[in-house]
Amino acid sequence: MFDLQKIVRPKIYSLEPYRCARDDFTEGILLDANENAHGPVPAELDIDSQLHRYPDPHQLQFKSAMAAYRNRTSDFKSVEGVKDLTADNMCLGVGSDESIDAIIRATCVPATEKILVMPPTYSMYSVCANINDVEVVQCPLIVDDNSFQVDTERALAMLNADPLIKLCFITSPGNPTGVRIEAERIISILEGWDSGLVVVDEAYIDFCGGSTAQLVTKYPNLVTLQTLSKSFGLAGIRLGMTYASADLARILNAMKAPYNISSMTSDYALTAVQNDNLKRMEETAAKMNKEQVRLMKALTALDGVQDQYVGGLDANFIMVRINGGDNTMAKELYYKLATVSGVVVRFRGTELGCTGCLRVTVGTEEENNKLIAEFEKTLAALMKK
Ligand SMILES: Cc1ncc(COP(=O)(O)O)c(C=O)c1O
Repeated sequence: MFDLQKIVRPKIYSLEPYRCARDDFTEGILLDANENAHGPVPAELDIDSQLHRYPDPHQLQFKSAMAAYRNRTSDFKSVEGVKDLTADNMCLGVGSDESIDAIIRATCVPATEKILVMPPTYSMYSVCANINDVEVVQCPLIVDDNSFQVDTERALAMLNADPLIKLCFITSPGNPTGVRIEAERIISILEGWDSGLVVVDEAYIDFCGGSTAQLVTKYPNLVTLQTLSKSFGLAGIRLGMTYASADLARILNAMKAPYNISSMTSDYALTAVQNDNLKRMEETAAKMNKEQVRLMKALTALDGVQDQYVGGLDANFIMVRINGGDNTMAKELYYKLATVSGVVVRFRGTELGCTGCLRVTVGTEEENNKLIAEFEKTLAALMKK
């Protein structure tokens, strides 16, 4: 039986959240928080900007709007045991990078406990684990058939064999693989392992749909991470969302720095989840999906690029293999594109199952045209050498 108290570190489980006078009173002459009542120093930010005040620690309006959007677009609404998400299921972070760090700190005892990751995957899980002195064990994705799906049986065997593993990170869609993990595989792990949390990182989910966020109302061992950095085009404001059971969300909220989300970030985030902006986000994602197919067709048709792209098209990038998996040529192409053509892509050839691969983010139509032309010219020259 899943028991949250056994998963969260004891001192964090019993943490009392930081409280301030403004939790009780928000109006009147505010002399409670040692702010500067004369207003912000840059003259163009007058007292109306309120930037001399600490931000709202809770962002309830944003959370409620986001939860409503995830409910409305969920594939799992009619699954037995699934309920509507509310603001109580959410905790916000300074990008999902902070959310990743928070969930590791909340659960793993340094120098003792472990996380499981599935390479090839996003490297921040291991970076945060290392910073927290938490060991990382690996259960590779299935790479031989280009599916890059989770190896469910092997993952379950590893998780159930080692009680020190507290978190199982699944990236869906994957980075750099671009493959959304099949829901049945995630559910098998949720149902087959109860001594830790399954963390599904959905940074790119709006490019393909199928978010697992609503499943946190049924599975207390599920945590879903999302971000405004990708489909919402707001990487600069740094806002990540964690969806979890209300019990776990309460703990994560108690643990976070009280004012981690700035007033500016809050304001932009709230605007982003208004209905017309949600529609705009969906339209932009659909436009990028179309461009992605065009980019993929153009690049995989080139001499020296493998006909089959590597991984999937579920995120906002593609991965292509150069010269049958030639890391030297792929690296040279990457370097020439950046230094001669002025187009920066990412070399991923040292990742498992990605030899000779470059990952290319889908840009604007104009940027993609330039990338395709420069890629063709530069690769042709390298192939002649
Ligand atoms: C899988 C994945 N998770 C999380 C992030 C980080 O997102 P954020 O900008 O919200 O920190 C990225 C960014 O590239 C990513 O690829």
